[in-house]
Amino acid sequence: MYRNTPHPVFLRDYQPPEFLIDRVDLRFELDPERTSVEARLQVRRNPAATRGDGSLRLHGEQLDLEQVSMNDRLLTPADYRVDAESLTLLRVPDRFGLMTRVRIHPSLNTALEGLYQSGDMLCTQCEAEGFRRITYFLDRPDVMACYGTTLVADRRRFPVLLSNGNRVESRDLPDGRHLVRWEDPFPKPSYLFALIAGDLSAVEDGYTTASGRAVELKIYVEPHNLDKCDHAMRSLKKAMRWDEERFGREYDLDVFMIVAVSHFNMGAMENKGLNVFNDKYVLARPDTATDADFEGIEGVIAHEYFHNWTGNRITCRDWFQLSLKEGFTVYRDQEFSADMGSRGVKRINDVRLLRAHQFPEDGGPMAHPVRPESYIEINNFYTATVYQKGAEVVRMQANLLGPERFRQATDLYFERHDGQAVTTDDFVRCMEAASGRDLGQFRRWYDQAGTPELSIQADDDADDGTYTLTIRQHTPPTPGQPVKMPFHIPLAIGLLGPDGQDLPTRLADEPSATAPGTRVLELREAEQRFRFTGLPVRPVPSLLRGFPAPVKLRFAYSDDELLFLMAHDSDGFNRWDAAQTLLQRLLLALVADPEVGIPDQFFAAFRRALLDSSSDRALLAEVLTLPSESYLGDQMEVVDIDGIHHAHTMLGRHIGERLGEDLLRVYRDNGETGPYVFTPQASGRRALKNLALGYLMWAGDARALGDCQSQFAAAHNMTDVMAALRLLVDHGGAEGAQALDEFYRRWSRESLVLDKWFSVQATSPRPDTLARVIQLMGHSDFSLRNPNRVRSLVGAFCNANPVRFHAANGGGYRFLADCVLELDPLNPQIASRLLKAMIHWRRFDHDRQTLMRAEIARILAIEELSKDAFEVASKALE
Ligand code: ARG
Ligand code: ZN
Repeated sequence: MYRNTPHPVFLRDYQPPEFLIDRVDLRFELDPERTSVEARLQVRRNPAATRGDGSLRLHGEQLDLEQVSMNDRLLTPADYRVDAESLTLLRVPDRFGLMTRVRIHPSLNTALEGLYQSGDMLCTQCEAEGFRRITYFLDRPDVMACYGTTLVADRRRFPVLLSNGNRVESRDLPDGRHLVRWEDPFPKPSYLFALIAGDLSAVEDGYTTASGRAVELKIYVEPHNLDKCDHAMRSLKKAMRWDEERFGREYDLDVFMIVAVSHFNMGAMENKGLNVFNDKYVLARPDTATDADFEGIEGVIAHEYFHNWTGNRITCRDWFQLSLKEGFTVYRDQEFSADMGSRGVKRINDVRLLRAHQFPEDGGPMAHPVRPESYIEINNFYTATVYQKGAEVVRMQANLLGPERFRQATDLYFERHDGQAVTTDDFVRCMEAASGRDLGQFRRWYDQAGTPELSIQADDDADDGTYTLTIRQHTPPTPGQPVKMPFHIPLAIGLLGPDGQDLPTRLADEPSATAPGTRVLELREAEQRFRFTGLPVRPVPSLLRGFPAPVKLRFAYSDDELLFLMAHDSDGFNRWDAAQTLLQRLLLALVADPEVGIPDQFFAAFRRALLDSSSDRALLAEVLTLPSESYLGDQMEVVDIDGIHHAHTMLGRHIGERLGEDLLRVYRDNGETGPYVFTPQASGRRALKNLALGYLMWAGDARALGDCQSQFAAAHNMTDVMAALRLLVDHGGAEGAQALDEFYRRWSRESLVLDKWFSVQATSPRPDTLARVIQLMGHSDFSLRNPNRVRSLVGAFCNANPVRFHAANGGGYRFLADCVLELDPLNPQIASRLLKAMIHWRRFDHDRQTLMRAEIARILAIEELSKDAFEVASKALE
């Protein structure tokens, strides 16, 4: 069927590199059509490696080789071999200088890996294996070198020339060209190399580190975006301060640069001293960006900055260790955001994300451990498992150690491994060394895939005041891992008395009383019993407080107990989770029987929560948000797409009808009063207000339609404009069409805002959405070459519009497969990521299964399919 079946790489085959490269001097003659790259490498045999056959194989793809010389002697084709993926020097000494000169073609690079053109600028993306598309090299993270980079380009076209480290030279050359030389004193792996050339302007600021070093901060953007950088700059300075205070980490160069690029495969990239960003995570003005955008920017700016220590100073030995830097850095950015905003709401959103993306991944055909054991294409493994579950695994260790010990452990990690390329095991060893704890069993979190399911059973004995929790853990099989060993799971729990107060949690074998509150049980066995004593009444257990482990919980709560927890639990996360469980129950009951009545006590509880003025509005908005349709689907044996959509709409409408007056009051009481500010309080008000408006619109409330239109017309912030636009579009009719036209006229030249215009249409549950999406694919502002645009239309439709994407006639599936096939030759990373929207086909009914399988098979039948798409498609059908 396909010509060459790509082969997987295995962790167990890891070998240290036979050669090391200590220094690299690069010289680029930049031109979008034809760039020349000259590389001078100082190579030596690695004393720690086993000797090979005396040859050196360098990675290189899509390079036109012009010249090779060794120790200044020109080599002839008899001295080396070149194929599509490498350059092999047949006999090399133990230490030598190597020079290669190649030509590359940035303007033809649609994969956006290596050196490519974005608008009028040239930029790079090297992680994971993009550097080999720039020059021949040992393109693996355990080869760390010092880089000197000379950039030569036309001065008018490319006045700004940037690379890693410090600028050490800058001068004009004849013919209108100029030259800038950069020197990065820190050894780094090739994936952290970056260069930028363009006509850019910078917002500049400064920062003084705790030890008194002055750092220049620069955010480079296209000139018309200079007014959208304030929030990013503020976020950067906050992140720098926070990392000093929380982790004792200071910045280490004289300058820190961020560049915003409009064509970017991922969120952003932590290149040493020169972070390159998808402009979506830099640019924000109150009238162009929503609260969610402001939040995303703060988090991603921090994430990339934090990589300077967790990723750059200490990097990964090989790509199986990706979570070493990503899991830890996500944990760090989560903690940062929790400290900047509301900790409770941050936790809720992180868990929502984990449940929405990582749990399904763990239960599907691409399930893999946090430290994968094999891959065909590493770009397919920048996943929710490596990032978000990886962060949970770090969080569990932080919680097991406690804050002081954890800080000692991270200090030790930074001291012990600075300048090295290490493994997740090295990280755990530091946790063990600093705490004296044995994390042997805990390590299974790194190498067993799958989400553990905890079934908990409670028994009480009124006579002797004991209460017993019997906890069973079971992890379902995943591809290649049929049988799982028990995990070491920290479980934070509390016991509530009838007045809603926390009771003491004293275990039967403990000599003295414990203080009331949360305590952590450590589960290690497949089945374990915890017997609590001294309980005068049967408590209501508050299980998994703060979500202490990435597990699924089964416990037979009654509705009354959930209502009780929702009202009284001292743990904010569990108040939210109780409400979600209750809503989920109600919705699934409606799916099973659309005629089932909604109990009055539900509306009473909803109303009590809604009118609770003491409560934080952001948290309230989370509590009162219905679980998403796709999350509800994940809870079913067989996903009932239409039943879920119907139940969702029905419950939303009932809430809007029954609580109309209250919702309207909440809506009107929480209006904007002054200029936009991005604070947890202000964004909480907006979230609650727009949630209320949504329920009213669901109910078809005539007053709400007018409110929606005036909010759309009058709002000065994008959060309120988008909330209103979404509701108007979903409402349809002349009102929706008019709002879309107006929005387009106002914003068609702001690409990030225009993305919102595409995605609000793509995610509408209206019946004609697929037809509209197909029509929009032909819109003059649509382009398959821009990943943000593809995500805003195709990605949004396939991932965030279950009822239309999974239409029973298979139209959504055909549309996705067509897009994947068109995109794959251009940009395999984006194509393969889109394709993942279809890999959970086994979760659906027989007819949909057949339709999806056929589309995946159609993709797999293509001979020239990329490794990326091949891996996803073939694993999906395995
Ligand atoms: N290291 C980047 C980050 O997490 C992501 C780069 C992803 N690159 C890729 N080719 N998949 O911030
Ligand atoms: Zn990262």
